[in-house]
Amino acid sequence: MDWGMANRMSKIIKPKTGKTVMLAVDHGYFMGPTTGLENLKKTVDPLIPYADTLMLTRGALRNYVSPDVDIPIVLRVSGGTSILNKNLLHEGIVASIEEAIRLNVAGVAFSILVGSEMERDTILAFTEMIDEAQLYGIPVVAVTAVGKEMVRDARYMSLASRIAAELGAQIVKTYYVDGFEQVVRTCPVPIVIAGGKKLPELDALKMAHAAIKAGAVGVDMGRNIFQSGDPVAMIKAVRAVVHEGASPKDAFAQFPKGKKRR
Ligand code: 5RP
Repeated sequence: MDWGMANRMSKIIKPKTGKTVMLAVDHGYFMGPTTGLENLKKTVDPLIPYADTLMLTRGALRNYVSPDVDIPIVLRVSGGTSILNKNLLHEGIVASIEEAIRLNVAGVAFSILVGSEMERDTILAFTEMIDEAQLYGIPVVAVTAVGKEMVRDARYMSLASRIAAELGAQIVKTYYVDGFEQVVRTCPVPIVIAGGKKLPELDALKMAHAAIKAGAVGVDMGRNIFQSGDPVAMIKAVRAVVHEGASPKDAFAQFPKGKKRR
């Protein structure tokens, strides 16, 4: 791995623990002003001190995040369909590698839709981005998006994650499922889990803990943090689980008493 790629990887996966808490707020590129991101700056600013990276679109970065922010950026570079489209996540390149370099990012994120009728389009666009990013030593986080019609099981996540890694991704973001050890065992690059739809905080912490135990290097979590009754308390609890090996119960016990716990 060349020095630049290794240096950027170390900004995403922290060398001290080998883990990462990536804050995902890129939802707007297909969901618009989703709950909790109506004013992205107001939501994100208090969370930045506790996140290892910030994953978002170029428009969100430019319009909501101050350029003097001290956090590595992972830029969402795939898109092309919205939640109104029946072919959700039929994605292609929506931000160039030159734009990523201009924005001084630590990595880029691209969704592939393995198993859908659009898989070839998403995969070919993904590999174009891989080639470009490789030229400049920029890590690619493959997001193994899952279409509505697909079964979310270890077999699927293992297939999608391995395809992403075989095609050249440096990090894979997938979803936690039972039998996740198999997904980790069959993927040659580090795996992080998305949080998915909002869960009760303790359940989300249990999911993060189980993923780490199964070999994931961390999370790239959004809604389970910014839609929490107390997002700062939640990201701190996620950090405790991911970086300090805290149990979900102990991490959750740090929640301020009386705060709305969902
Ligand atoms: C949306 C994404 C999100 O970054 C990813 O799903 C993580 O966010 P959440 O924890 O809210 O699922 O890739 O397509």
